[in-house]
Amino acid sequence: MYVCICNAVTEKDIHHAAANGARRVRDLRVLGVTADCGKCACAAKCCLDQALTSTVNPVRRQTPTPTRHMEAFA
Ligand code: FES
Repeated sequence: MYVCICNAVTEKDIHHAAANGARRVRDLRVLGVTADCGKCACAAKCCLDQALTSTVNPVRRQTPTPTRHMEAFA
């Protein structure tokens, strides 16, 4: 799906940019995002946030590792 109509930037382009280090909407300007009318800013941010949480920087669930004092209660 197109995120930026003015410059034909797709969700896939933004996910690819995130995988290559884009962390903020301004990092997407090299693709043309917000370079013209700017109406794509919110959609681009949403797409980038989704990309960052789902693929590039997934939220890691911390698995507690037993420590010495925890073993005493096992
Ligand atoms: S829709 Fe992205 S600059 Fe216009």
